[in-house]
Amino acid sequence: MIALISAVIFCFLTSALAQQANCSTEGQFTAPAGSYVFSWSLQSNGMYVDCNVSVNTADNTWVAVGFSEDRFMPDTDVIIGANDGTDEFVEDRWNGQSRVAGPSLDPMQNIMDTSSMRDGNRLTISFTRPLVSPDTSGRDENLDVCRNVLWAFGGTTTFVNGDVTALGGHSNRGVFPGQLCLCTIASTTATTATPTMTPTATTVTRSATVIPSATPEETPETTSSAASVANVAVLTFIFIFIATIF
Ligand SMILES: *[C@@H]1O[C@H](CO)[C@@H](O)[C@H](O)[C@H]1NC(C)=O
Ligand SMILES: *[C@@H]1O[C@H](CO)[C@@H](O)[C@H](O)[C@H]1NC(C)=O
Repeated sequence: MIALISAVIFCFLTSALAQQANCSTEGQFTAPAGSYVFSWSLQSNGMYVDCNVSVNTADNTWVAVGFSEDRFMPDTDVIIGANDGTDEFVEDRWNGQSRVAGPSLDPMQNIMDTSSMRDGNRLTISFTRPLVSPDTSGRDENLDVCRNVLWAFGGTTTFVNGDVTALGGHSNRGVFPGQLCLCTIASTTATTATPTMTPTATTVTRSATVIPSATPEETPETTSSAASVANVAVLTFIFIFIATIF
């Protein structure tokens, strides 16, 4: 019994540590199709991530990136956009369990600083999103834990009077082999459960959390060995505590 409880606790602690030890503050995933590139850069406040998505695709087609708990399209948080040289859009959408009609518009748009660019065949969309979304409707996937990243592009985009009215199915899609694991500070995420989208609030919180997230990438070994020692200490304590009870 004690061994079982200890094993469960040990697995929990080591998996939490493993995720944090291999996290990134910036990077990119690429797919050969359309020379698709998804790049990300965590803001120094540790609360927001800046993203670019680029692909070679025809003027009247869209590009999208999805964040998912599994490697499948249903229940995937989607950021999608297009720019045909005249009209453009970048939107927060959600692929539900039934995705016959494609990703539906999320009633709460949890992306900011959106932009799009068309350079010949190359389409790029940019956006910033909070790691922990204030949207609690289940239409966003938080990025404070590792997520699978899905890529797609090539569906037609129909604009009417500047508004996107219809999106066709993708011509290409896939899932990147590695997961997106952003470096988070446990205390930061605990105090930012409902980040606001106002610039003022962002600035305030940024200054409050800039120091602990300073150089997570440069000291992974120190951090993880310190964390290992702490974990072993906690584990030993719990073990002795349980042994005392029995
Ligand atoms: C760490 O992340 C890199 C880049 O995503 C990946 O190639 C590598 O396999 C990961 N290592 C572990 C142990 O998960
Ligand atoms: C996105 O693209 C812009 C313009 O090229 C660049 O300044 C920025 O660093 C890029 N950000 C990421 C996360 O790739």
